[in-house]
Amino acid sequence: MKDVFKAQKVTDSVWWVGAIDWSIRDFHGYHTGRGTTYNAFLVMADKVTLIDTVKAGFGKEMLARIGSVIDPQKIDFLVSNHSEPDHTGSIVETINAIKPEKVFASSMGAKALYAHFDLPCEVTVVSDGEQLDLGSKTITFAETRMCHWPDSMVSYLHEDKLLFSQDVFGMHLAGHSLFDDQCDRALLEQEAAKYYANILLPLSISVKKALAKLSDLGAECKIVAPDHGPIWRSDPQWIMDAYAKWAAQPRTNKAVVVYDTMWGSTDLMARAVGEGLAAGGAIVRLMPLSGEHRSDIATEILDAGALIVGAPTINNQVFPSLADCLSYLKGLRPIGLVGGVFGSFGWGGGAVKSLAGTLEKMNVEQLAEPVCSQYVPDSDVLKNCYDLGQLIAKRIT
Ligand code: FEO
Repeated sequence: MKDVFKAQKVTDSVWWVGAIDWSIRDFHGYHTGRGTTYNAFLVMADKVTLIDTVKAGFGKEMLARIGSVIDPQKIDFLVSNHSEPDHTGSIVETINAIKPEKVFASSMGAKALYAHFDLPCEVTVVSDGEQLDLGSKTITFAETRMCHWPDSMVSYLHEDKLLFSQDVFGMHLAGHSLFDDQCDRALLEQEAAKYYANILLPLSISVKKALAKLSDLGAECKIVAPDHGPIWRSDPQWIMDAYAKWAAQPRTNKAVVVYDTMWGSTDLMARAVGEGLAAGGAIVRLMPLSGEHRSDIATEILDAGALIVGAPTINNQVFPSLADCLSYLKGLRPIGLVGGVFGSFGWGGGAVKSLAGTLEKMNVEQLAEPVCSQYVPDSDVLKNCYDLGQLIAKRIT
């Protein structure tokens, strides 16, 4: 396999030895339409060190890439920056294959590894700020708790000015383009934002702490190597600045209208809300759940100023696609949004009350009473929808 699955050079002494997952389309609710990579890195120092492993099923691919550079049994140290199974699913297979002298993880990482796996060796716990001497090179560990799990830490390789950042600064994007400058820029920015919105948004306070910690570390990062997607080498500061911006959740004049429809009434109301928003100067994103995935809606909400939701009533309940989407968005904990609610019903309502209650729990400031329509909206109802759009536009523009 090593003649097919080969390592790729990152620096003179660091190799990418990860795996490409072209087929994954769902990452715990996040639509990964462009697949992903599980990045692992080999540091060729006096103590040869493997940084992270890959998801179960991809271990042989990683070991083959390692084998294209060095006999895997010559690896001395294994560092696990993050214990989620997309980075550790092959760790037992890897330890058995390389027989490292030591395996390192944070204290929470060690607990998670023992809880997930029947490990064939002990894990050596490293503390926040601890340095690991590799002989010719030095790594400093920095805990980045809750970016993405309590165990998360990053590893900074001083001599190469290279930060192994685990999930942080990553994206789900499969491909053979190893570096940011080899990729379409607009695509990178879109996928990085999608990753932040769907993975890190609810952890923004932890992201701010992690960014401050990296600054304290005095790390002059020339290269940022996350565990998913391309390596940032042309302008690593761009992704760090983007994280600082997204963590602050600045709001814009964009309004996202999320809705579904049964027989067209709520769809007509959504379009009327959209007309009012546009007339008021807002940027309008109408996102019908018949065609939009919840994770793309989360991405749009990352910098939106308003969230407006609409649904028909079915069996006295909110339409199920809205319940699904709002449950997901609520968990992502966006802050600073204004919004509104609209919906239709036949002989018994329920949807708008449920939607309004959910927006309240999400701390979305509702600027008006919900707009309701029995059966098909008449011109008065449509005017109320239009006015709702205009009112919201006035607040966010
Ligand atoms: Fe890529 Fe939190 O795992």
